Amino acid sequence: MYTKLFSVISVTFLLGACGKVDPNLVTRPAGSKAFEGDRVELVKEGKALWNDTSLSTKGIACQGCHVNGAQFKKYFAQAYPHPVDMAKSMAGLTSIDAEQMVQFCMIVPMKAEPLPWDSEKLAALTAYIEDEEQARFKAKGM
Ligand code: HEC
Repeated sequence: MYTKLFSVISVTFLLGACGKVDPNLVTRPAGSKAFEGDRVELVKEGKALWNDTSLSTKGIACQGCHVNGAQFKKYFAQAYPHPVDMAKSMAGLTSIDAEQMVQFCMIVPMKAEPLPWDSEKLAALTAYIEDEEQARFKAKGM
């Protein structure tokens, strides 16, 4: 309850004066390649990054907003790519995939630079989201 309240307050605060996001910042540049590594290791690394406040210039972690699936809307259960309200309203993107969603939350709520497109960190957070957060969300039938 407390964490849920905290996340609602921080989302309102951090997204408050929300502007626009250049869709190019959340679109993989042509010719770039995602980091490839052992999936199990990537998920493990992604889990650590999910709790890492140093990724944000505001001292928050992904987990700070998303504890127990908070902030995720129904469509998070759909296979990627899928439409996401925030991506549509702020960047005009009609559909977004998991790694783009990492970049989106890095830029908007985390108030940080997007991660390098070939980085292990981006691959790790993407793998963690797909294999753990999304899988858990689907299993809960939310
Ligand atoms: C200050 C709060 C906040 C923080 C911190 C935050 N997010 Fe989010 N995130 C949101 C909100 C709000 C949404 C819902 C957007 C929507 O559905 O329009 C969201 C949605 C998502 C989604 C689901 C989108 C979908 O497909 O339905 C993913 C994945 C995600 N965030 C990943 C991350 C990652 C990775 C981080 C850390 C790098 C992070 N978030 C940090 C607020 C936050």
